Amino acid sequence: MYETEEPRDGHNKIPKGWLLFFFGGIIFLIGYIVSYTPAISGWSFYKEYDKEMALAAKSEKPAVVKEYSGDKEAIEEGKEIFANTCAPCHNADATGNIGPNLTAPKLKYGSTRNDLYETITKGRSGGMPSFLPQIGAEKISKVIAFLETLRKK
Ligand code: HEC
Repeated sequence: MYETEEPRDGHNKIPKGWLLFFFGGIIFLIGYIVSYTPAISGWSFYKEYDKEMALAAKSEKPAVVKEYSGDKEAIEEGKEIFANTCAPCHNADATGNIGPNLTAPKLKYGSTRNDLYETITKGRSGGMPSFLPQIGAEKISKVIAFLETLRKK
Protein backbone atom coordinates (compact mmCIF):
# COMPACT_ATOMS: atom_id res chain seq x y z
CA MET A 1 0.00 0.00 0.00
CA TYR A 2 2.75 2.45 0.84
CA GLU A 3 5.58 3.51 -1.40
CA THR A 4 9.06 2.33 -0.63
CA GLU A 5 11.62 5.04 -0.36
CA GLU A 6 13.67 4.22 -3.37
CA PRO A 7 16.47 6.61 -4.01
CA ARG A 8 15.82 8.67 -7.04
CA ASP A 9 18.27 10.72 -9.10
CA GLY A 10 16.64 13.96 -8.14
CA HIS A 11 17.52 13.50 -4.48
CA ASN A 12 21.21 13.22 -5.12
CA LYS A 13 21.62 16.31 -7.24
CA ILE A 14 23.56 19.13 -5.69
CA PRO A 15 21.97 22.46 -6.51
CA LYS A 16 23.75 24.23 -9.40
CA GLY A 17 24.33 27.36 -7.37
CA TRP A 18 26.35 25.44 -4.80
CA LEU A 19 28.51 23.86 -7.45
CA LEU A 20 29.13 27.21 -9.04
CA PHE A 21 30.12 28.66 -5.70
CA PHE A 22 32.37 25.70 -4.90
CA PHE A 23 34.31 25.65 -8.17
CA GLY A 24 34.24 29.39 -8.42
CA GLY A 25 35.86 29.52 -5.00
CA ILE A 26 38.58 27.10 -6.02
CA ILE A 27 39.34 29.06 -9.18
CA PHE A 28 39.43 32.30 -7.27
CA LEU A 29 41.78 30.84 -4.66
CA ILE A 30 44.17 29.50 -7.28
CA GLY A 31 44.17 32.84 -9.04
CA TYR A 32 44.70 34.64 -5.77
CA ILE A 33 47.58 32.46 -4.68
CA VAL A 34 49.26 32.68 -8.06
CA SER A 35 49.04 36.41 -8.32
CA TYR A 36 50.24 37.11 -4.79
CA THR A 37 53.06 34.57 -4.64
CA PRO A 38 56.26 36.47 -5.38
CA ALA A 39 57.96 33.39 -6.86
CA ILE A 40 55.18 33.02 -9.43
CA SER A 41 53.95 36.48 -10.34
CA GLY A 42 56.77 38.64 -9.06
CA TRP A 43 54.32 40.51 -6.85
CA SER A 44 55.99 41.99 -3.85
CA PHE A 45 54.84 44.13 -0.99
CA TYR A 46 57.97 46.24 -1.38
CA LYS A 47 57.26 46.91 -5.04
CA GLU A 48 53.74 48.02 -4.18
CA TYR A 49 55.17 50.25 -1.49
CA ASP A 50 57.71 51.80 -3.86
CA LYS A 51 54.97 52.44 -6.40
CA GLU A 52 52.80 54.18 -3.83
CA MET A 53 55.70 56.27 -2.60
CA ALA A 54 56.62 57.31 -6.15
CA LEU A 55 53.02 58.35 -6.76
CA ALA A 56 52.87 60.32 -3.54
CA ALA A 57 56.14 62.08 -4.34
CA LYS A 58 54.83 63.09 -7.74
CA SER A 59 51.60 64.52 -6.40
CA GLU A 60 53.43 66.74 -3.94
CA LYS A 61 53.79 70.10 -5.56
CA PRO A 62 57.30 71.45 -5.51
CA ALA A 63 57.40 74.66 -3.52
CA VAL A 64 58.37 77.51 -5.80
CA VAL A 65 58.09 81.23 -5.50
CA LYS A 66 54.87 82.54 -6.97
CA GLU A 67 54.65 85.58 -9.14
CA TYR A 68 52.90 88.27 -7.11
CA SER A 69 54.92 91.26 -8.27
CA GLY A 70 52.66 94.27 -8.61
CA ASP A 71 49.60 92.43 -7.28
CA LYS A 72 48.23 95.03 -4.86
CA GLU A 73 46.23 92.63 -2.70
CA ALA A 74 49.10 90.21 -2.38
CA ILE A 75 51.47 93.05 -1.49
CA GLU A 76 49.07 94.28 1.19
CA GLU A 77 48.93 90.77 2.61
CA GLY A 78 52.68 90.46 2.36
CA LYS A 79 53.06 93.68 4.31
CA GLU A 80 50.88 92.30 7.07
CA ILE A 81 52.74 89.01 7.15
CA PHE A 82 56.00 90.92 7.29
CA ALA A 83 54.75 93.05 10.19
CA ASN A 84 53.72 89.95 12.14
CA THR A 85 56.53 87.60 11.28
CA CYS A 86 59.61 89.49 10.18
CA ALA A 87 59.40 92.94 11.78
CA PRO A 88 60.74 91.85 15.18
CA CYS A 89 64.10 91.19 13.56
CA HIS A 90 64.07 93.31 10.42
CA ASN A 91 62.00 96.28 11.62
CA ALA A 92 58.53 97.17 10.29
CA ASP A 93 59.99 99.05 7.31
CA ALA A 94 62.57 96.28 6.72
CA THR A 95 65.47 98.63 7.42
CA GLY A 96 66.97 96.17 9.85
CA ASN A 97 67.33 95.47 13.54
CA ILE A 98 68.75 92.12 14.65
CA GLY A 99 68.53 91.08 11.04
CA PRO A 100 70.02 93.11 8.21
CA ASN A 101 68.45 95.94 6.28
CA LEU A 102 66.41 94.34 3.52
CA THR A 103 66.06 97.56 1.55
CA ALA A 104 69.82 97.83 1.04
CA PRO A 105 70.92 98.02 -2.58
CA LYS A 106 72.86 94.82 -2.25
CA LEU A 107 71.93 91.82 -0.16
CA LYS A 108 74.44 89.28 1.09
CA TYR A 109 72.48 86.30 -0.23
CA GLY A 110 71.19 87.98 -3.34
CA SER A 111 68.01 89.91 -4.01
CA THR A 112 66.36 88.21 -6.98
CA ARG A 113 63.01 86.70 -6.27
CA ASN A 114 64.55 83.24 -6.18
CA ASP A 115 67.37 84.34 -3.87
CA LEU A 116 64.89 85.84 -1.44
CA TYR A 117 62.73 82.73 -1.64
CA GLU A 118 65.73 80.54 -0.90
CA THR A 119 66.71 82.71 2.08
CA ILE A 120 63.25 82.91 3.58
CA THR A 121 62.14 79.31 3.04
CA LYS A 122 65.36 77.66 4.19
CA GLY A 123 66.83 80.28 6.49
CA ARG A 124 70.46 81.43 6.65
CA SER A 125 73.21 80.40 9.02
CA GLY A 126 73.65 83.84 10.61
CA GLY A 127 70.38 83.66 12.54
CA MET A 128 67.72 83.86 9.87
CA PRO A 129 65.13 81.14 10.65
CA SER A 130 63.55 78.99 7.94
CA PHE A 131 59.96 79.98 7.39
CA LEU A 132 58.64 77.39 4.98
CA PRO A 133 57.35 75.12 7.76
CA GLN A 134 55.79 78.07 9.57
CA ILE A 135 54.02 80.13 6.92
CA GLY A 136 54.30 78.16 3.68
CA ALA A 137 55.27 79.03 0.10
CA GLU A 138 52.18 81.12 -0.61
CA LYS A 139 52.74 83.63 2.18
CA ILE A 140 56.47 83.78 1.55
CA SER A 141 55.79 84.67 -2.07
CA LYS A 142 53.54 87.51 -0.94
CA VAL A 143 56.16 88.78 1.48
CA ILE A 144 58.63 88.81 -1.39
CA ALA A 145 56.22 90.87 -3.49
CA PHE A 146 56.06 93.30 -0.58
CA LEU A 147 59.85 93.43 -0.22
CA GLU A 148 60.17 94.18 -3.92
CA THR A 149 58.09 97.32 -3.49
CA LEU A 150 60.51 98.52 -0.79
CA ARG A 151 63.54 97.76 -2.89
CA LYS A 152 62.28 99.56 -5.97
CA LYS A 153 62.07 102.89 -4.18
C1 HEC B 1 64.68 85.76 14.61
C2 HEC B 1 64.98 86.93 13.83
C3 HEC B 1 64.54 86.93 12.38
C4 HEC B 1 63.30 86.81 11.85
C5 HEC B 1 62.00 86.56 12.63
C6 HEC B 1 63.42 86.98 10.45
N1 HEC B 1 64.73 87.17 10.10
FE1 HEC B 1 65.45 87.47 8.26
N2 HEC B 1 67.33 87.45 8.96
C7 HEC B 1 67.67 87.42 10.30
C8 HEC B 1 69.12 87.44 10.43
C9 HEC B 1 69.91 87.41 11.72
C10 HEC B 1 69.63 87.47 9.11
C11 HEC B 1 71.09 87.47 8.67
C12 HEC B 1 71.48 86.04 8.30
C13 HEC B 1 72.90 85.92 7.79
O1 HEC B 1 73.52 86.93 7.53
O2 HEC B 1 73.35 84.76 7.63
C14 HEC B 1 68.48 87.51 8.22
C15 HEC B 1 68.56 87.56 6.86
C16 HEC B 1 67.50 87.72 6.02
C17 HEC B 1 67.59 87.91 4.60
C18 HEC B 1 68.87 87.92 3.78
C19 HEC B 1 69.48 89.30 3.77
C20 HEC B 1 70.74 89.35 2.95
O3 HEC B 1 71.51 90.29 3.18
O4 HEC B 1 70.95 88.51 2.08
C21 HEC B 1 66.32 88.07 4.13
C22 HEC B 1 65.90 88.31 2.68
C23 HEC B 1 65.44 87.97 5.26
N3 HEC B 1 66.18 87.77 6.40
C24 HEC B 1 64.06 88.05 5.18
C25 HEC B 1 63.21 87.78 6.23
C26 HEC B 1 61.77 87.68 6.11
C27 HEC B 1 60.98 87.93 4.84
C28 HEC B 1 61.30 87.32 7.33
C29 HEC B 1 59.87 87.04 7.72
C30 HEC B 1 59.21 85.97 7.01
C31 HEC B 1 62.45 87.23 8.23
N4 HEC B 1 63.57 87.49 7.52
C32 HEC B 1 62.34 86.94 9.57
C33 HEC B 1 66.81 87.35 11.36
C34 HEC B 1 65.44 87.17 11.27
